[in-house]
Amino acid sequence: MPPSPDLRSAEEPDRNLALELVRVTESAALGAARWVGRGDKEAADQAAVDGMRRLLSSVAMDGYVVIGEGEKDEAPMLYNGEEIGDGSPPQVDIAVDPLEGTTLTAKGMPSALAVIALSDRGTMFDPGPCVYMEKMAAGPEIADCLSFQIPVDEVVRRIADRRGVSTTEVTTVILDRDRHADGIDRIRQAGGRIRLISDGDVAAALLAVSPGTGVDLLWGIGGTPEGVISAAAIKCLGGELLGRLWPRSDQEAAAAAAAGYDVGRVLTCDDLVRGDNAFFAATGVTDGDLLQGVRYIAAGKATTESLVMRSRSGTVRKIHAVHDSSKLVHVSGGAKTKGALARALN
Ligand code: FBP
Repeated sequence: MPPSPDLRSAEEPDRNLALELVRVTESAALGAARWVGRGDKEAADQAAVDGMRRLLSSVAMDGYVVIGEGEKDEAPMLYNGEEIGDGSPPQVDIAVDPLEGTTLTAKGMPSALAVIALSDRGTMFDPGPCVYMEKMAAGPEIADCLSFQIPVDEVVRRIADRRGVSTTEVTTVILDRDRHADGIDRIRQAGGRIRLISDGDVAAALLAVSPGTGVDLLWGIGGTPEGVISAAAIKCLGGELLGRLWPRSDQEAAAAAAAGYDVGRVLTCDDLVRGDNAFFAATGVTDGDLLQGVRYIAAGKATTESLVMRSRSGTVRKIHAVHDSSKLVHVSGGAKTKGALARALN
C-alpha cells in the first residue's frame, strides 16, 4: 500500500551512507574484539583494520582517505591519501579509526570503539604533520561557554554559572597525561570534578556533548585525527568542539607552519568538518558509557551496538545487531565480505 500523502516528503529521501558504514565499524569491532584483554594492541589494531578494509570495499562511493592509519608504506591499507570505493558518486572524504583505544582493548578496559566518519569531498580538515590538538567540547546549551582565551577553570566556572550550580557539580573528562597537570590542578582548585581517562578521547567527546551522561566538558590535548572524527560526530549530535593545534616541539611547529597551518588558530567543528553533510558510525569494542562492546552470546554468535548518525538530517540511531557466522557465510555477498565477518566470529 502506498504511504498516505501526509507521510510522503516532497523529495525522495536520499542515501544515508551512515547506514552502510555501520557494517564497516561492526566488522572492525568484531575483528578487534577477538583481542580484548590479550595484551597485544598491535594485533587488535590489525584485526580492526582488516575488518574495516574488507567491508569498506563494499560501499559504492568515490572515497579519499584524509585520516587513515598513517603513511602508505607503514599502513598497506587505509593509508592517508588512499582512494576507496568503486569510484561511483558520491565523492567523499573519509576519516577512519578502526580501533580508537588500542591499549584499552589490549587491557580489556572500557570504551574502545571502531569509528568512521565521512563528509563531502574537500570538507575534512587534514591534520598533516600536526599530531596533537588541544580540545574542548560540550553540549549545545553550554557550547558558548567554551574558550581558549581564558584558563580552563574559568570555563568550568562559566558552565557552573550557566547551569546555576556549584563548580562541584561540573565534571570535566580529561586524558590522564602529565601535560594536563596544570589544568587539572586549576580545575580542582576551582572545586570542579574531574574524570580521568587513560585513553579514548573520541568516546569522551561524545559523552561531553550528550545529555544525561554526567560529563559536562571534555578538555585536554589528544590526537588531531581524533579531534576531526569527534567534530564529525558532534555535527550530528549537536554541541561544539574547539580545537587548537599543539606542536610538541619547535621542529613540529616549524613543520606545521611550512605546511601552511596556523597553529594559533581556534578551529570549530565547522572548520574541522565543513558543510552539513557528515556521516558517522561507531561500534563498541569494549563496554563503555556510550555503547556496549562486542558480546559473545553463543557459538558463532555475537552482538554489537553502534551509533549511526548523519548531520544533515540530525538522525541519531543506536543499532543493536546479532551476528551469526553460520548465516553470514551464505548471505553477506562477495567472498571478501563474508570472510571478514565470519572469520571474526569463528
Ligand atoms: P590509540 O587508539 O591510537 O591508542 O589512541 C588512543 C588515544 O587515547 C586517543 O583517544 C587520544 O586522542 C590519543 O590516544 C592521545 O594520545 P597520547 O596517548 O599520545 O597521549
